[in-house]
Amino acid sequence: MSLDEMRQSYKLGRLEEKDIAADPLVQFRTWLAEAIQGSPAQGPLPDWVEANAMTLSTSDGQGRVSSRIVLLKGLEDDQFWFYTNYQSHKAGQIRSNPNVSLCFLWPHVQRQVRIEGTAAQASREQSVRYFRSRPRDSQLGALVSQQSTVVDSRGVLEKRLEELKNRYADKEIPCPDDWGGYRVSPSRFEFWQGRDSRLHDRLCYRQQGSQWIVERLCP
Ligand SMILES: Cc1cc2nc3c(=O)[nH]c(=O)nc-3n(C[C@H](O)[C@H](O)[C@H](O)COP(=O)(O)O)c2cc1C
Repeated sequence: MSLDEMRQSYKLGRLEEKDIAADPLVQFRTWLAEAIQGSPAQGPLPDWVEANAMTLSTSDGQGRVSSRIVLLKGLEDDQFWFYTNYQSHKAGQIRSNPNVSLCFLWPHVQRQVRIEGTAAQASREQSVRYFRSRPRDSQLGALVSQQSTVVDSRGVLEKRLEELKNRYADKEIPCPDDWGGYRVSPSRFEFWQGRDSRLHDRLCYRQQGSQWIVERLCP
């Protein structure tokens, strides 16, 4: 494998000002639906691709940045929703700095979407509602894992899981107090469509008062 020889040509689509929605949320929903559908050139999206996976970047008060994948679980009230542990590394960073970015990569349609915004905790009611909709295994997993803390071994987690499975055998599993949603309110979007000769299309939306301004950026 030679990294310097790995390259793709991007010819699947184009993004023009005349075709883009005035509202970036409408544009995002269209692209998300198309990413889930797959491309005519490459067929439907395989089951194992999670089109709702996004890179969430957070930073602390000193400018240290960290990124990880989380799953988009809702697009409500024009906000992007994801769920996590409120004691995790990311949650600590969001507490010190609510500015975050989200990045979706959809290579099968040669698209990327970048979003900048601020994150705020969802209501307890919303978090509990979503927690209850999850499969029991995922509910137990959230209870077992003190996300981002050091654990002596995998065995410790498996033992905890068995104990909790027995404890809640025929009972409702409670949503942990330190687990729940975040909603990201967007203030900037960039829609990127790969093009020939690396002259990719980049259309950005930035907020001016209650208006969204669309601008093209050099690739
Ligand atoms: C495909 C995929 C989906 C994931 N979805 C989530 C998620 O929705 N919520 C979450 O807390 N972690 C999710 N993770 C795990 C995170 O990437 C990360 O390991 C975890 O949240 C701890 O991050 P932190 O220590 O920076 O807080 C996912 C990982 C992958 C690869």
